[in-house]
Amino acid sequence: MTSLQKVAAETSEAFLKSYGRPPRWMVAAPGRVNVIGEHTDYNDGFVLPMAIEHYAVMAADRPADGQAVIQIRATSGSEPLRVDLSAPVTPGEPSWGNYPRGVIAGCLARGLNPGGLDVLLHSTVPIGGGLSSSAALEVATATLMETVTGQTMDPVEKALLCQKAEHDFAGMPCGIMDQFISVMGRPDHLLLLDCRSRQTELVPMSDPSVSLLIINTNVKHALTGGGYAQRRLQCETASKNLDLPSLRDATMNILEQARGRMDEVVFRRARHVIGEISRTLQAAAAVRASDWPRVGTLMGASHASLRDDYDVSCVELDAVVDIARGIGQAGGIYGCRMTGGGFGGCAVALVKTGQVEAVSRQIAADYKARTGIEATIFVSRPAAGATVLQA
Ligand code: GLA
Repeated sequence: MTSLQKVAAETSEAFLKSYGRPPRWMVAAPGRVNVIGEHTDYNDGFVLPMAIEHYAVMAADRPADGQAVIQIRATSGSEPLRVDLSAPVTPGEPSWGNYPRGVIAGCLARGLNPGGLDVLLHSTVPIGGGLSSSAALEVATATLMETVTGQTMDPVEKALLCQKAEHDFAGMPCGIMDQFISVMGRPDHLLLLDCRSRQTELVPMSDPSVSLLIINTNVKHALTGGGYAQRRLQCETASKNLDLPSLRDATMNILEQARGRMDEVVFRRARHVIGEISRTLQAAAAVRASDWPRVGTLMGASHASLRDDYDVSCVELDAVVDIARGIGQAGGIYGCRMTGGGFGGCAVALVKTGQVEAVSRQIAADYKARTGIEATIFVSRPAAGATVLQA
């Protein structure tokens, strides 16, 4: 049984238990891990994420009372959400419900009105781990709206609708990476996304000799805390200073020349973004060539830049990356970096498949010794994007 089939079976069973009848519809959307290209999406740059085998799954049926209310219960035990479709849909409590609320509001505005629904949400994407649990929830909601109404959206339009939900309802000014990969992921492929043109290219990643290991520091990240929005503003300040539409148009040379008239912090933020965009393109080429040592080196450089210039790492992420560097290629690790928005969450390591278990054991033990925290470590193959499942 694949991990998706397993989580689908669990969801179906949980629906039956909660509502006393089997579901009529079922959909899934994955979380993601970003291999490289961090904090580049809102700078019109490139990103290289993959969907992971952890999903937000929603099962649904019409409500017995026929009311125009969408009710979402969650296996996590979170307070249930009620969205009354006969009134304007606005943000509110419970706060986790703002992701589905925003998507439902966006769908209604485009004429996708599903009518009343009893929904059960079961998510295996760790919350606050930097693996896009919120994008998975948004994309699952949008996919459910499509499935129930029989109206499909263009994948780009769908991803943008979900991003808008996060901006307007959750107050998080995210870029487009997470929603794009959750919609468009393909098994055995990374997605090279040009965040300016929104063109995508699938990069095959099916070499069985390497695996992507995800190490959750179990330090929660909260991107609504202000650090993320502040980075966005600093990048805008930098591009204005350089008189360019965005940092995508800058080069290291242009930046160096402007150094004297730029705030030091803004300069470092820009240096990260310009370097990271170039590293992402180089990494995509190295993945295509199965040049794993090169990919690993670029991942290491990405981490250093996020830590030193972009200031979005933390002690625990640095500890993981440092332990991985110590293990090195001889011990089975090509490279390791923080992934996602930062300030906690996960690191991703490119590891020789034959050494995954030994490496995982050592990282877990050393991380515990250094920080006192238990890490959660798992491997994921690149997974499929949003899927409609057999209910
Ligand atoms: C979060 C955002 C993304 C992206 C990353 C950083 O995950 O949702 O849009 O900006 O941070 O790369």
